[in-house]
Amino acid sequence: MCGEVDVQGSKNAALPILAASVLCSEECVIGNCPDLADTRAALEIIGQLGGKTEFAEHTAVIDAGNIHKHEISNELMSSMRSSVLFLGPLVSRMGRATISYPGGCAIGLRPIDLHLKAFRELGVEIEETGGCIYCKCDKFVSGTVNLLFPSVGATENIMLLSAVSEGETVITNAAREPEIVDLQNFLNAMGAKISGAGSEIIRIIGVEKLQKVEYNIISDRIFATTCACAVACCGGDVVLKNANAEHLRLVLSMLKDSGCKISTGKGRVRIQCSERLKGLGKIITSPYPGFPTDAQALFMASFATAEGTTVFVENIFESRYKHVSELMKMGADIIVDGRLAAVTGCNYIQGAKITAGDLRGGAALVIAGLSAIGDTEISGVEHIDRGYESVENVFSALGAMIKRK
Ligand code: UD1
Repeated sequence: MCGEVDVQGSKNAALPILAASVLCSEECVIGNCPDLADTRAALEIIGQLGGKTEFAEHTAVIDAGNIHKHEISNELMSSMRSSVLFLGPLVSRMGRATISYPGGCAIGLRPIDLHLKAFRELGVEIEETGGCIYCKCDKFVSGTVNLLFPSVGATENIMLLSAVSEGETVITNAAREPEIVDLQNFLNAMGAKISGAGSEIIRIIGVEKLQKVEYNIISDRIFATTCACAVACCGGDVVLKNANAEHLRLVLSMLKDSGCKISTGKGRVRIQCSERLKGLGKIITSPYPGFPTDAQALFMASFATAEGTTVFVENIFESRYKHVSELMKMGADIIVDGRLAAVTGCNYIQGAKITAGDLRGGAALVIAGLSAIGDTEISGVEHIDRGYESVENVFSALGAMIKRK
């Protein structure tokens, strides 16, 4: 695998930022926005609420001046999990919101109890009946909200609820992911007064209103990790352009420990690998800056052919080993016991007909297919398309033989 690849804009940063545009009555121009089904679903939600949207060449232009509805249809709510991030902006802007549950998904139940508990503490009345959530807020009550777990979505939703409000809201045990920092930067660029994102305590001094903005979304660290993992197990020399090495610090140091050569420059990460990877002992997923759960499947595909055993401990999601059975069809040696998966590297894996069951698990199967002997046919590609603009173009540009049927 050889060449250069442009890292796309971050999906997980784009979704809360698109939701945040609902807080502003003036035009928001959001650049480096990945062209994904979830991006388009978020824009459709804004349209359904009464906003105007345009999307071309990775730039979303949103005018939410005419937002007048507070209800999101069941169909759009269920089209993506992140639709729940509209709850905060809608309650803030309209004083009420009606949504249905975003529901479970392929990687586990994914409840939103932490979002709702925090909202109640901040004065939002919530009624949950018949699969719907009715939120009403006549008087926002600022104060300190302690999250029992540093949930990414709950942290973002609280920021979105309280950015335009009266008083000071503090989130303790906040999630520290780079996407939270990006949301803070976006909101502040519109005139919000938020500080502390990236640490465990975020302070939000409510402002009266937000102004128009032009903003570029950060690059996607999981996309970058996907490319890095592919090079690590297939071998090669690839430069990731528009990558943020700081966001990738842990995964890059782990790939280095397993035998890759990594060099970083401004906005660039070069990954070279010319020998068989060495197993890493134990990989435990945890909130940022720990090892990302979104990279677990990607690393597992790479370490399926590494020297030695690597034990994965999935601490964030309860059911995130759907890719294991498919990797095993290719000959991978993996034993799962609850949240543990022990991967003993074999000399090679073989191509097979396999099925993607979720986004990152699906991307892991692409990595496995690229490193396997013989042809691999992956179905369920729509899961992969949720996070990658065109996974086949990314890897064929690096010399891989991959095409969409
Ligand atoms: C975000 C990311 C996702 C990533 C995850 C963890 C987006 C769009 N998605 O998802 O790619 O895998 O962070 O890094 O940014 N939980 C509860 N109750 C809640 C909220 C969460 O029990 O109210 C649990 C979840 O079920 C899960 C864990 O907390 O087990 C982490 O969830 P959370 O951090 O909220 O992840 P998301 O925001 O859904």
